[in-house]
Amino acid sequence: MIRSIVRGVGSALPKRIMKNADFEDMVETSDEWIAQRTGIRQRHIADDSETTASLGEAAARAALDNAGLTPADIDLIILATSTPNNTFPATAVEIQHRLGMKHGFAFDMQAVCSGFVYAVTTADLYVRGGLAKRVLVIGSETFSRILDWSDRSTCVLFGDGAGALVLEAAEGEGTVADRGVLATSLRSDGSHKEKLYVDGGPSTTKTVGFLRMEGREVFKHAVGMITDVIEKTFWDAAITAEDLDWFVPHQANKRIIDASAKKLGIAEEKVVITVDRHGNTSAASVPLALAVAVEDGRIKRGDLVLLEAMGGGFTWGAVLLRW
Ligand code: UT7
Repeated sequence: MIRSIVRGVGSALPKRIMKNADFEDMVETSDEWIAQRTGIRQRHIADDSETTASLGEAAARAALDNAGLTPADIDLIILATSTPNNTFPATAVEIQHRLGMKHGFAFDMQAVCSGFVYAVTTADLYVRGGLAKRVLVIGSETFSRILDWSDRSTCVLFGDGAGALVLEAAEGEGTVADRGVLATSLRSDGSHKEKLYVDGGPSTTKTVGFLRMEGREVFKHAVGMITDVIEKTFWDAAITAEDLDWFVPHQANKRIIDASAKKLGIAEEKVVITVDRHGNTSAASVPLALAVAVEDGRIKRGDLVLLEAMGGGFTWGAVLLRW
């Protein structure tokens, strides 16, 4: 059977780093509160010249270099983002143009923090359906542009950045020993909209709006939803937590990650944590974490890797793959 294997990974971060202490003059908060409640110590914030498209392009180029490929080798670009450069056209199409591509096709996916997991699942279907041979899957966000910088309950949590994978069609045996995407599971439930949303949009306020979140409410649902979808993925692939080499979760809050790993029986040393240095970068958080763990030599070819995310909507999902 055809599998979507990972050929390359890359990432890009804005130049400017903002430390927790930098918020102390802006809102009533402290480095200690942010670090203790979330695990975040710093985040990257885009300047005016850095956008979702420019960061996405840089991450895509890094992933192509890592794969030893060029834009000419790519058939499809899927960009996961909730902070597009424009309402339309899709920022994926802008990235396609920036990469000098006149062939193939590109579109955006919007599932907020779960966007990358949704995008990998979709890319895998295009590859296994024979509609694309190589897909650039990008998560790129500039959440700093939709933050209310006077709201301490949200502005300290998010950061900007981008990560990308090149997925490629390859023959597999149809077993869990294959390389590539092995199992995926997506969920959503729109009844939770008011807990995490942006209070503007073209069809309602005709403005972009700002992010609003009832953090405690999101926290209450997060661990249950994450573990539910991961247990289904384990069941579908007939594996257990012990079989995993790496757990690469969405990086929103270290306490949510720790509680989920504990509930699932995933050993602490298998968990990749980047929330301390990136904050919550929404759809970019999982590919950014993957890039870190590949660059530092933790994730190696043949490793069994579990990706997971949960966010606005609510949306949530998991992807199991062998690197
Ligand atoms: O990526 C999408 C998914 N999003 C998430 O997963 C986020 C989920 N939620 C969370 O991570 C946590 O709920 C937060 C980090 C947002 C908040 O942590 P918490 O432990 O749930 O705190 P809380 O909201 O219950 O607030 C505790 C106190 C409150 O004060 P009172 O009411 O106890 O007097 C807040 O007003 O902390 C206060 N507070 C702050 N204090 C200092 C809220 N934000 C801040 C702040 N600095 N930045």
